[in-house]
Amino acid sequence: MTSPQLRLAEEDDLPAINDIYNYYVPRSTCTYQLEPESMADREAWFREHQPDRYPVIVAELDGDIIGWGSLSKFRLRAAYAPTVEASIYIHHDFHRRGLGRLLLTDLIERARRAGFHSLIGGASADQVASIALQESMGFRRVAHLVEVGLKFGQRLDVIYLQLMLGAAPT
Ligand SMILES: CC(C)(COP(=O)(O)OP(=O)(O)OC[C@H]1O[C@@H](n2cnc3c(N)ncnc32)[C@H](O)[C@@H]1OP(=O)(O)O)[C@@H](O)C(=O)NCCC(=O)NCCS
Repeated sequence: MTSPQLRLAEEDDLPAINDIYNYYVPRSTCTYQLEPESMADREAWFREHQPDRYPVIVAELDGDIIGWGSLSKFRLRAAYAPTVEASIYIHHDFHRRGLGRLLLTDLIERARRAGFHSLIGGASADQVASIALQESMGFRRVAHLVEVGLKFGQRLDVIYLQLMLGAAPT
Protein backbone atom coordinates (compact mmCIF):
# COMPACT_ATOMS: atom_id res chain seq x y z
CA MET A 1 0.00 0.00 0.00
CA THR A 2 1.11 3.62 -0.43
CA SER A 3 2.18 5.29 2.79
CA PRO A 4 -0.56 6.47 5.15
CA GLN A 5 -0.29 10.09 6.22
CA LEU A 6 -0.74 11.13 9.84
CA ARG A 7 -2.42 14.42 10.67
CA LEU A 8 -4.57 16.06 13.31
CA ALA A 9 -8.21 15.04 13.07
CA GLU A 10 -10.84 17.47 11.88
CA GLU A 11 -14.57 17.59 12.51
CA ASP A 12 -15.21 16.00 9.10
CA ASP A 13 -13.25 12.89 10.18
CA LEU A 14 -15.59 12.10 13.08
CA PRO A 15 -17.96 9.77 11.18
CA ALA A 16 -15.00 7.64 10.01
CA ILE A 17 -13.45 7.72 13.49
CA ASN A 18 -16.74 6.60 14.98
CA ASP A 19 -17.27 3.84 12.41
CA ILE A 20 -13.82 2.38 13.08
CA TYR A 21 -14.53 2.41 16.82
CA ASN A 22 -18.10 1.14 16.67
CA TYR A 23 -17.05 -1.91 14.66
CA TYR A 24 -15.39 -3.18 17.85
CA VAL A 25 -18.16 -2.38 20.34
CA PRO A 26 -20.28 -5.52 19.71
CA ARG A 27 -17.31 -7.74 18.77
CA SER A 28 -14.34 -7.10 21.01
CA THR A 29 -13.17 -6.51 24.55
CA CYS A 30 -10.76 -3.85 23.25
CA THR A 31 -13.46 -1.42 24.39
CA TYR A 32 -15.67 -1.95 27.44
CA GLN A 33 -18.43 0.09 25.84
CA LEU A 34 -21.55 -2.02 25.32
CA GLU A 35 -23.62 0.24 23.05
CA PRO A 36 -22.38 2.04 19.94
CA GLU A 37 -21.02 5.54 20.43
CA SER A 38 -23.46 8.11 19.08
CA MET A 39 -22.26 10.90 16.83
CA ALA A 40 -23.42 13.44 19.43
CA ASP A 41 -21.19 11.81 22.06
CA ARG A 42 -18.32 11.56 19.56
CA GLU A 43 -18.63 15.26 18.79
CA ALA A 44 -18.64 16.11 22.50
CA TRP A 45 -15.53 13.90 22.96
CA PHE A 46 -13.82 15.74 20.11
CA ARG A 47 -14.59 19.13 21.65
CA GLU A 48 -12.81 18.00 24.86
CA HIS A 49 -9.63 17.28 22.88
CA GLN A 50 -7.39 20.22 22.01
CA PRO A 51 -4.54 19.76 19.50
CA ASP A 52 -1.79 21.05 21.83
CA ARG A 53 -2.37 18.80 24.89
CA TYR A 54 -5.06 16.28 24.01
CA PRO A 55 -4.82 15.71 20.25
CA VAL A 56 -6.83 13.36 18.08
CA ILE A 57 -4.79 12.13 15.12
CA VAL A 58 -5.80 10.13 12.07
CA ALA A 59 -4.01 7.93 9.55
CA GLU A 60 -5.27 8.67 6.06
CA LEU A 61 -4.69 6.51 3.02
CA ASP A 62 -5.86 7.62 -0.42
CA GLY A 63 -8.46 9.88 1.17
CA ASP A 64 -9.78 7.27 3.62
CA ILE A 65 -9.32 7.29 7.39
CA ILE A 66 -7.91 3.87 8.33
CA GLY A 67 -6.96 4.47 11.94
CA TRP A 68 -6.95 7.04 14.68
CA GLY A 69 -5.40 7.75 18.04
CA SER A 70 -5.89 10.19 20.86
CA LEU A 71 -4.37 11.53 24.02
CA SER A 72 -6.97 12.00 26.73
CA LYS A 73 -7.03 13.05 30.36
CA PHE A 74 -6.14 10.04 32.51
CA ARG A 75 -8.33 11.27 35.37
CA LEU A 76 -10.30 14.47 35.80
CA ARG A 77 -8.84 15.57 39.16
CA ALA A 78 -6.35 18.39 38.63
CA ALA A 79 -3.35 16.70 40.27
CA TYR A 80 -3.41 14.04 37.54
CA ALA A 81 -2.48 16.72 35.00
CA PRO A 82 1.08 15.37 34.35
CA THR A 83 -0.36 12.07 33.13
CA VAL A 84 -2.14 11.33 29.88
CA GLU A 85 -3.80 8.25 28.39
CA ALA A 86 -3.35 6.99 24.83
CA SER A 87 -5.97 5.23 22.70
CA ILE A 88 -5.56 3.77 19.21
CA TYR A 89 -8.07 2.10 16.92
CA ILE A 90 -7.07 0.73 13.52
CA HIS A 91 -9.70 -0.16 10.92
CA HIS A 92 -10.23 -3.92 11.14
CA ASP A 93 -9.11 -4.44 7.52
CA PHE A 94 -5.74 -2.79 8.19
CA HIS A 95 -4.32 -4.62 11.18
CA ARG A 96 -0.71 -5.72 11.37
CA ARG A 97 0.63 -3.30 8.78
CA GLY A 98 2.53 -1.10 11.18
CA LEU A 99 -0.23 1.49 11.64
CA GLY A 100 -0.64 0.99 15.37
CA ARG A 101 3.09 1.49 15.88
CA LEU A 102 3.04 4.56 13.60
CA LEU A 103 0.19 6.20 15.52
CA LEU A 104 1.57 5.31 18.96
CA THR A 105 5.02 6.66 18.02
CA ASP A 106 3.39 9.93 17.01
CA LEU A 107 1.30 10.11 20.21
CA ILE A 108 4.38 9.48 22.38
CA GLU A 109 6.20 12.31 20.62
CA ARG A 110 3.22 14.63 21.05
CA ALA A 111 2.92 13.72 24.74
CA ARG A 112 6.63 14.48 25.24
CA ARG A 113 6.36 17.81 23.42
CA ALA A 114 3.34 18.75 25.53
CA GLY A 115 5.45 18.17 28.65
CA PHE A 116 3.58 15.20 30.13
CA HIS A 117 5.49 13.15 32.67
CA SER A 118 3.91 9.77 31.95
CA LEU A 119 1.71 8.05 29.42
CA ILE A 120 -0.80 5.37 30.37
CA GLY A 121 -2.27 2.64 28.19
CA GLY A 122 -5.05 0.40 29.40
CA ALA A 123 -6.00 -2.92 27.88
CA SER A 124 -8.27 -5.81 28.63
CA ALA A 125 -5.94 -8.62 29.70
CA ASP A 126 -7.10 -10.76 26.75
CA GLN A 127 -6.12 -8.08 24.21
CA VAL A 128 -2.83 -9.60 23.11
CA ALA A 129 -2.25 -7.19 20.20
CA SER A 130 -2.71 -4.04 22.25
CA ILE A 131 -0.48 -5.24 25.08
CA ALA A 132 2.22 -6.51 22.69
CA LEU A 133 2.21 -3.23 20.76
CA GLN A 134 2.63 -1.17 23.92
CA GLU A 135 5.30 -3.43 25.42
CA SER A 136 7.22 -3.36 22.13
CA MET A 137 7.39 0.42 22.52
CA GLY A 138 8.73 0.44 26.05
CA PHE A 139 5.52 0.56 28.10
CA ARG A 140 5.77 -1.49 31.30
CA ARG A 141 2.91 -3.35 32.95
CA VAL A 142 2.24 -1.52 36.20
CA ALA A 143 -1.16 -2.77 37.32
CA HIS A 144 -3.42 -5.75 36.86
CA LEU A 145 -6.99 -5.27 38.01
CA VAL A 146 -8.86 -8.50 38.53
CA GLU A 147 -12.39 -9.08 37.15
CA VAL A 148 -13.30 -5.40 36.94
CA GLY A 149 -15.13 -5.79 33.62
CA LEU A 150 -18.04 -7.87 32.34
CA LYS A 151 -18.64 -8.28 28.61
CA PHE A 152 -19.95 -11.18 26.50
CA GLY A 153 -20.79 -12.96 29.77
CA GLN A 154 -17.12 -13.02 30.81
CA ARG A 155 -15.49 -11.29 33.74
CA LEU A 156 -12.51 -9.34 32.49
CA ASP A 157 -9.18 -8.26 33.94
CA VAL A 158 -7.65 -4.93 32.98
CA ILE A 159 -3.95 -4.25 32.59
CA TYR A 160 -2.46 -0.78 32.85
CA LEU A 161 0.80 -0.07 31.09
CA GLN A 162 2.92 3.03 31.57
CA LEU A 163 5.65 4.81 29.67
CA MET A 164 7.63 7.33 31.68
CA LEU A 165 8.35 10.44 29.63
CA GLY A 166 10.47 12.16 32.21
CA ALA A 167 9.30 15.76 32.08
CA ALA A 168 10.21 17.66 35.24
CA PRO A 169 7.51 19.31 37.37
CA THR A 170 6.52 22.75 36.11
C1 LIG B 1 -3.95 -3.07 18.89
C2 LIG B 1 -3.88 -2.41 17.49
C3 LIG B 1 -3.93 -0.90 17.67
C4 LIG B 1 -2.51 -2.80 16.87
O1 LIG B 1 -2.38 -2.07 15.65
P1 LIG B 1 -1.74 -2.75 14.36
O2 LIG B 1 -1.61 -1.70 13.33
O3 LIG B 1 -2.49 -3.96 14.00
O4 LIG B 1 -0.30 -3.16 14.91
P2 LIG B 1 1.12 -3.00 14.21
O5 LIG B 1 1.08 -3.63 12.85
O6 LIG B 1 1.59 -1.60 14.29
O7 LIG B 1 2.01 -3.93 15.15
C5 LIG B 1 3.04 -3.40 15.99
C6 LIG B 1 3.43 -4.48 17.00
O8 LIG B 1 2.34 -4.76 17.87
C7 LIG B 1 2.32 -6.17 18.18
N1 LIG B 1 1.10 -6.79 17.62
C8 LIG B 1 0.21 -6.20 16.80
N2 LIG B 1 -0.81 -7.06 16.55
C9 LIG B 1 -0.52 -8.20 17.21
C10 LIG B 1 -1.19 -9.44 17.35
N3 LIG B 1 -2.36 -9.69 16.75
N4 LIG B 1 -0.63 -10.39 18.12
C11 LIG B 1 0.55 -10.16 18.75
N5 LIG B 1 1.24 -9.00 18.65
C12 LIG B 1 0.70 -8.03 17.90
C13 LIG B 1 3.58 -6.73 17.55
O9 LIG B 1 4.64 -6.57 18.48
C14 LIG B 1 3.77 -5.80 16.38
O10 LIG B 1 5.08 -5.78 15.89
P3 LIG B 1 5.51 -6.80 14.71
O11 LIG B 1 4.45 -6.72 13.65
O12 LIG B 1 6.84 -6.28 14.28
O13 LIG B 1 5.56 -8.14 15.35
C15 LIG B 1 -4.98 -2.94 16.54
O14 LIG B 1 -4.96 -4.35 16.57
C16 LIG B 1 -6.36 -2.44 16.88
O15 LIG B 1 -6.78 -1.37 16.45
N6 LIG B 1 -7.10 -3.27 17.68
C17 LIG B 1 -8.43 -2.90 18.10
C18 LIG B 1 -8.43 -1.69 19.02
C19 LIG B 1 -7.47 -1.85 20.17
O16 LIG B 1 -7.27 -2.89 20.75
N7 LIG B 1 -6.87 -0.71 20.53
C20 LIG B 1 -5.92 -0.63 21.60
C21 LIG B 1 -6.59 -0.20 22.84
S1 LIG B 1 -6.67 1.55 22.98
